Amino acid sequence: APVKVQKICCIGAGYVGGPTCAVIALNCPDIQVTIVDLNQARIDAWNSKDFKLPIYEPGLEDVVRKARGRNLFFSTDVDKAINEADLIFVSVNTPTKKSGVGAGFAADLNYVELATRRIASVATSSKIVVEKSTVPCRTAESMRTILEANSKPNCHFDILSNPEFLAEGTAINDLLKPDRVLIGSLQTPEGIDACTALADVYANWVPKERILTVGLWSSELSKLAANAMLAQRISSINALSAICEATGANIDEVANAIGFDSRIGPKFLKASVGFGGSCFQKDILNLVYLSESLHLPEVAAYWRQVVDMNEYQKRRFAKTVVDTLFKTITGKRIAVLGFAFKADTGDTRESAAITLIKDFVAEKALVQIYDPKVEHEQIWLDLAEAIPGTPIEAIKKQVTICASPVEAASKAEAVVIATEWKEFKEIKWEDIYATMDKPAFVFDGRLLLDAEKLRKIGFHVTTIGRGA
Ligand code: NAD
Ligand code: UGA
Repeated sequence: APVKVQKICCIGAGYVGGPTCAVIALNCPDIQVTIVDLNQARIDAWNSKDFKLPIYEPGLEDVVRKARGRNLFFSTDVDKAINEADLIFVSVNTPTKKSGVGAGFAADLNYVELATRRIASVATSSKIVVEKSTVPCRTAESMRTILEANSKPNCHFDILSNPEFLAEGTAINDLLKPDRVLIGSLQTPEGIDACTALADVYANWVPKERILTVGLWSSELSKLAANAMLAQRISSINALSAICEATGANIDEVANAIGFDSRIGPKFLKASVGFGGSCFQKDILNLVYLSESLHLPEVAAYWRQVVDMNEYQKRRFAKTVVDTLFKTITGKRIAVLGFAFKADTGDTRESAAITLIKDFVAEKALVQIYDPKVEHEQIWLDLAEAIPGTPIEAIKKQVTICASPVEAASKAEAVVIATEWKEFKEIKWEDIYATMDKPAFVFDGRLLLDAEKLRKIGFHVTTIGRGA
């Protein structure tokens, strides 16, 4: 019979583990939830008295305030939390491999494996181990093999796949009202019992018909498939934006017209300077690698094109800026508004802004950045990584981080919108215009601004997906 879960441990206190398990704690006051991480600074931030949490996510602080200390705990004592729990989420990072076999494509499963081995070596009772990280198809099988080979007598492990579909910036809402919760298990009696135990946890707040239970491999593949199809929609609309610019069609009108078809639907059709975030590119490359390993080169090439189109879109936008500014930006000041990969997050992983700034720096421009949420230190780390071989002091001669949009626009020849922060809509553009060199250019990479209004002030405006 399924166990009744009383204690949960989550390994990995990041963007997924933190919010996901905080919401479980909020909705399941009878379950004790302990989120652990090796990173002491991260755990200290989760535990901070003034709730200066390590990640910014609307609504998160409220959830943590309600549950922390009641049935939600953050700790670096990984072994203790593993030992006490009946159910363990593995929610560690799975970045793209940087070296070795599959470098640049395959997922680096080292952190998943280390966490799995830790569970095997310290557990003294049976556990349900849940793969929460996004992993290649059949990873659960490797986890099972490791656990079984290293476990103590009387310890039985059931492995579940329970991928996470939250998006950053809306994580809390996505977790409170998920479109669906997906749980994959082996179709054995034990596997199905474990699956029921986890489904019962979610049933505390998720309607039963939204909790889908499937086989392990379907669950793992569904996560990669969902991200690949979401990213594919963006690459499709961005490919069309290039046609719009060349023909005078308007991408907003096109997206609206096709989105009215109920089979296509209106969401996720916003043309942009390119998708970013820690997962779309990583998960597609992972799917490409999987397809190649399965000797399916046509399938691999098909998905690969989604990433290639995204690279093209970023480069194309940077080139538009240079071309419009009379084919040279050497020594010119360019304000970049937004550094996060999307609005309402401080996360910068794979942000399109990084690629743009890298290109502007290579063209010897002076870049003035403003973002309302991203930490300055993070911006320097990202630029140092994106522009290898150049000392950070040299980068700092070309790049300044500013405290407001007006400061970023000071004496600039162009303002580039890289992130769709709502506050950029509400800027007093007259003040921006006054401080800029003339002619003053605006490049809207996010379809955010009212171009006509800006033109009336005197700006030259270029919007992605709109002809001149
Ligand atoms: P993250 O880097 O923010 O967090 C991972 C955490 O795990 C880090 O704090 C790290 O210190 C910790 N960790 C690594 N190895 C550990 C170990 N052995 N023991 C204890 N702690 C360990 O990553 P994330 O964004 O939370 O992503 C986690 C997984 O979830 C990834 O597989 C990702 O693909 C997937 N995912 C992410 C999102 C998202 O929006 N960020 C959404 C859905 C799925
Ligand atoms: C995405 C998925 O939406 C989540 O379901 C998934 O769980 C997550 O990846 C993951 O696996 O990590 P996330 O990357 O946080 O979530 O954010 P999205 O809202 O999907 O945006 C991704 C990128 O696409 C952003 O740069 C965003 O600006 C861009 N985007 C999004 C567009 O350019 N146009 C759109 O219409 C939508």
